[in-house]
Amino acid sequence: MSMAQKKPNITNEVKPARRKSLSMSDAQLRNAVKDAAAKFLTRPDTNQPIVLIGLMGVGKTAVGKRLAQVLKLRFIDSDQEIEKAAGMKVSEIFEKFGEEYFRDRERAVIARLLNERASRVIATGGGAFLNDETRKLILDQSLAVWLRAPIDVLVERTGRRDTRPLLQAGNPRDILSNLAKIREKFYRQASVHCNSGLGRLDRTVLSLLTRANRSIFGENEAKQRRRRWRPKSKKPETEQK
Ligand code: S3P
Repeated sequence: MSMAQKKPNITNEVKPARRKSLSMSDAQLRNAVKDAAAKFLTRPDTNQPIVLIGLMGVGKTAVGKRLAQVLKLRFIDSDQEIEKAAGMKVSEIFEKFGEEYFRDRERAVIARLLNERASRVIATGGGAFLNDETRKLILDQSLAVWLRAPIDVLVERTGRRDTRPLLQAGNPRDILSNLAKIREKFYRQASVHCNSGLGRLDRTVLSLLTRANRSIFGENEAKQRRRRWRPKSKKPETEQK
């Protein structure tokens, strides 16, 4: 199949954010993340948790841990909480009690975490946001962030472990592509959309915080800060949005 004939990749259809972070050195990137984190921490609702949603393999845990580290917040993985409460792995829960039971546990765990009204970073399992009750809770009580990545990245990352029961039922690429199609309209409801799989983890964290700040503080302020950052000697980059 030629490139021109290639079907659009559903999880990557939204254009990438500005790529100035590409040209940053590690130290510049760290500083930019620090600045964006400092800004984020001045948000009006300081108890609001950040909830990461998105398909399996998109990097919710890795990004969530790093984000929590830079914001000095606690990181919680809802799948791990379910495993702790049940005393068994997600795959065992699926095997012994079925998906419906798992979804109910997932709903209860996320409701408990959100009802605690504490500022923290919560990574959810890829299917959690499809439950009507859970989705409403997340949208009402947190800053919901949808992480996206191209299917190739998801296939590569999920292929590193065989712990995801939904991917054992056939060809992981087909399953992930199908889930992307079904789930996108739900994920899209998140306030912040952010590409993951941008190489350096901090690039994703910077993009996430920049977009979160834009959603909280408004577009104008974010634009002004970007203008301040731009090196004077260079011609302005073309906006990719
Ligand atoms: C699932 C995603 C998994 C886990 C379970 C079901 C899904 O979590 O909750 O295997 O339905 O997408 P990750 O998204 O963290 O892999």
